[in-house]
Amino acid sequence: MEDLQAIVDGIHAKLQPRLGEGKVADYIPQLAHVDPKKFGITVITVDGKVFKAGDSDTPFSIQSVSKVFTLTLALGKHGETTWNRVGREPSGSAFNSIVQLEHEEGKPRNPFINAGAIAISDLVLAGHTPREAIGEIIRFVRYLADDESIAIDPSVAKSEQATGYRNFALANFMRSFGKLTHPVEHVLGVYFHHCALAMTCTQLAHSALFLAAGGRNPLTGHRVVSEQRARRINALMLTCGHYDGSGEFAYRVGLPGKSGVGGGIMAVAPGKASVAVWSPGLNHNGNSLIGSLALEMLAAETGWSVF
Ligand code: DON
Repeated sequence: MEDLQAIVDGIHAKLQPRLGEGKVADYIPQLAHVDPKKFGITVITVDGKVFKAGDSDTPFSIQSVSKVFTLTLALGKHGETTWNRVGREPSGSAFNSIVQLEHEEGKPRNPFINAGAIAISDLVLAGHTPREAIGEIIRFVRYLADDESIAIDPSVAKSEQATGYRNFALANFMRSFGKLTHPVEHVLGVYFHHCALAMTCTQLAHSALFLAAGGRNPLTGHRVVSEQRARRINALMLTCGHYDGSGEFAYRVGLPGKSGVGGGIMAVAPGKASVAVWSPGLNHNGNSLIGSLALEMLAAETGWSVF
C-alpha cells in the first residue's frame, strides 16, 4: 500500500488495453476531437507527495468538475444562505434534466447538476460584472492549485455558449420562478466560462488537496474552508458528484468525487490524499468510464474507501 507509485503505474498498465472505451462527448468540436485513448492519473498525499502516470500533465476541459470550486466560492460569499437557492439531495436524474425544476419551483436539487451550478453562478455574480466573477473564479482555482498558469479555454467557452440551448432553457425556467437575480446571459456567461477551465490531473489534484486535509491546503498552508465545510463539500460530492451514477460510484469506489463531461474526475480520500483522473470516453451517465475504473482500482488497492 505504501508504494503508491507502483500502484499508480500498475493501474496505468492494466488499463492500457481498455483505453478508448466509452463515448467521448461530442456536443462541441473541442471535446469531440480529443484523443479517446488519453489517460492520466495523479495522486497527492496530504504530506505533499505526488504520484502520477500517463497523460497526467496534459490539460483537458474540466467541465463540471469546476462546480466544486464555484460551490466553495459561493459558500464563502453567502454562507448557509446558499442553501436557500439549491438543495443538497441527489437528483437521480441526468445532469442536464429539467423535469424536477417544475415540481420544485425552480430550486435545483443540488449544486452539481447543471441547474444547481447555474444557480451557484448567480450567487458568485453577486456584486460583480460577469467578467469580474469569471476573474474571481480563475484566481480562486489558481490559489487552490498554487499554480498561476491555469486558464480558461476561450474557444470552449464560446462553443458552450453557441450550443447551450438546454442550459439557456434551465436558466430561463429558473428565472421565471424568480430564482435567478441576474440576467440569464450574465449568469450563463459565468457558468460557460468556469466549465471551460483547462487543467491537468496534477493541477486538479493540487486544487482538491484542501478537501482531503480538513479544509487547509497542507502544501501552501492556506486555510481555504473550515474543517466542517470541507466535510460537507465532500458529503455532497459523494452523494451528488456523479449525477444519476452517484450511487454506483459510491458502491464501486467509495470516495467523494466530481466528474466532468470532458472525462475528468476529481476525488478525495479524506485524511489521505486527493486524486484526479482523466480519460475522455464516458459511460451512460456521462462520467469517465476508464477514469471510474481507475479510481475503483486505486480505492481497492489502498483501502481508501470511506466506508
Ligand atoms: O453545461 C454543460 O452541459 C457542460 N458544460 C458541463 C456538463 C458536464 O460536465 C456534465 N458532466 N458530466
